[in-house]
Amino acid sequence: MKKQTTSRIEGFYRLDPVTRRMRLRDATSCDDATLAALAGGQLGMERADKMIENVVGTYELPVGVATNFQINGRDRLVPMVVEEPSIVAGASYAARMARESGGFVASHTEPIMIGQIQLIDVTDVAHAMAAIHAARLRLIECANAQSQSMVARGGGARDIEMHHYAESPMGAMLIVHLLVDCRDAMGANAINSMCEAVAPILEELSGGRAMLRILSNLTDRRLASARVRIAPRSLERDGIAGADVVERILWAYAFAAVDPYRATTHNKGIMNGIDPVIVATSNDWRAIEAGAHAWAARSGRYTSLSHWYRDNDGYLCGELTMPLAVGIVGGATRVHPSAQAALQLLDVQHAGELAEVCVCAGLASNLAAMRALATEGIQRGHMALHARQIAMAAGAEGDEVVLVAERMIAQKSIKPATANAIIAELRAELA
Ligand code: MEV
Repeated sequence: MKKQTTSRIEGFYRLDPVTRRMRLRDATSCDDATLAALAGGQLGMERADKMIENVVGTYELPVGVATNFQINGRDRLVPMVVEEPSIVAGASYAARMARESGGFVASHTEPIMIGQIQLIDVTDVAHAMAAIHAARLRLIECANAQSQSMVARGGGARDIEMHHYAESPMGAMLIVHLLVDCRDAMGANAINSMCEAVAPILEELSGGRAMLRILSNLTDRRLASARVRIAPRSLERDGIAGADVVERILWAYAFAAVDPYRATTHNKGIMNGIDPVIVATSNDWRAIEAGAHAWAARSGRYTSLSHWYRDNDGYLCGELTMPLAVGIVGGATRVHPSAQAALQLLDVQHAGELAEVCVCAGLASNLAAMRALATEGIQRGHMALHARQIAMAAGAEGDEVVLVAERMIAQKSIKPATANAIIAELRAELA
């Protein structure tokens, strides 16, 4: 029988990478091959050369695993691929606070995406719209003939919508939306093929000319939501009472709610949790980013993606709903061995579950950032890892890395020149 994942792994951050992978084997049903693929180095030049053009190599990034996540009552270990220190630790810490009051509650909508076909030179718009509407089933059938695998999985084109723009810098245009249920695929390829296939029929029906035929990355019908409720005592920090931290976090949120300069950074903090999971599973992070920020501006004013408030018990409550078009079949997700391993570790059965994990990781990162910013600031936590990066960049090796970082922090000078001087000191001490 398959083992249920335990995401609460005591002292995980203190272990070395090999031991961490061993602990993952104990905590999950991942086999050795999956753990080896997580360790990396398996993409290979041949596969990489078939993924994009003009390949000259592959590029490595650290794979971290965020612990403590409990989503809809189920433990999840969250693989994160990212270059920035503190993100994995912050998400894990926030997930731990969330866990103390029941974890995250997440949900997702049906995976409906939009394909757009731009029609120009339509002389009789009302007639064209009526003709397109009347041919709805023919159009859907034509679209579905393009992606038998999506249809076989229970998805496919579902409906047609239309939008008329009487004015644009070039003149009027009629935009046809093809609504496609993508099931477990992100769906970009299938949707684009569908749009290209139905375009000639739309030209015939409208008497116009088809220009662009492409999916929309504003996937506002493919949303994921997360909710969390944190007890004030879980938020206490550096002698600041929990209720006070709640108050400060609400001021941080209020700032992002009204000010676009702050909202952008606040939302970047949310994407700090989401993008690393998107990258770990070889999903399209540019698409996710584009959709997220367009959604954040949907009222006409760019604002916070998340919403925070205090409930009647004084608990801090957070909610995040946003577009999350992710897939677990097809594309790079299938080709990349580490992406397959990440999906195994996540133990998600369908794309909606992956979207739920992403939105929870986003809310967790947001909470971690706001708590740090609203109390001691983010630099203290950040500096320890930043110092290690500076130490490595200056040439520190093995155990030297931590020693150099510690001395730089003690000297309150985290700079390449200081790192160089300390490396020289250490080596002289040992000589
Ligand atoms: C840094 O990567 C992310 C933060 O700037 C997010 C925020 O300000 O909320 C700390």
